[in-house]
Amino acid sequence: MNTTLLVSDAEHFRIDYEINPYMHTEVQPDPRAAAAEHFAIVAAHLTAGRRVEYLQSAPECPDMVFTANAALVRGGRAVLGFPPPERKAETPYFYDWLTGRGFDVIDAPYPFSGQGDALACGELLFAGHGQRTDRRMHDVLARELGYKIVPLQTVSPRWYDLDLAVAVVAQPDVVAYCPAALDRASRDRLRDLKLDLIEVHREEAARLALNLVSDGTTVTMTRGAPRLAAELRARGLKVVELATTELAKGGGGVRCTALTLDNP
Ligand code: ARG
Repeated sequence: MNTTLLVSDAEHFRIDYEINPYMHTEVQPDPRAAAAEHFAIVAAHLTAGRRVEYLQSAPECPDMVFTANAALVRGGRAVLGFPPPERKAETPYFYDWLTGRGFDVIDAPYPFSGQGDALACGELLFAGHGQRTDRRMHDVLARELGYKIVPLQTVSPRWYDLDLAVAVVAQPDVVAYCPAALDRASRDRLRDLKLDLIEVHREEAARLALNLVSDGTTVTMTRGAPRLAAELRARGLKVVELATTELAKGGGGVRCTALTLDNP
């Protein structure tokens, strides 16, 4: 899991608009620090033995570094994201890249935050709704990609994408999540699945601790979430903690910068 990832770059990363509560146009990322952060994330993927594919960012797309929102990919198929209007210009670049690589690309008929709101866990798909994803997308994802949908609703725009509130740590059943970020029905639904659930505190989740990439052996995550890091190490995982302060100004972290291409 997560052994082939599509990344872009932070070259044009800026805060031109505010579409999540972490973004403030008066707080801009330092371009060199942002590039260094992104570079370190990519280097960590490579060190962990993951394959990294690259799509160059476009100047008119200040959020293109967050490739996770571009689509949800399974096997040879991809359902494209349907982002907020501010990010619409990104979609054709990802469409072209995916079709150029031979993926069968399906347009999303309703708002859809791509993998940001759709976390694969074996046959299950933890599927967010209520923020950036229209619930009608769940049927589309089930039909087009064959997942069994587990709908999960976050409680506020602080969790505008599910990948800030839930993380698949190891398949089939190690999942970390922030209980305070999910509504009651969603928490119950997750608990009913009898997974090995790791609970993450609201403060660590708000520092984007759950926005991690795990291949089941190595977890690449942000620095500043020592409790989660310790929990993961206690389970025998290798944990690599990286600075994500610049990316955080856009409301994103490690997970947001990598679109998984190898969901089985
Ligand atoms: N600034 C970006 C946005 O609000 C951040 C996206 C982060 N992606 C994610 N998968 N959570 O769209």
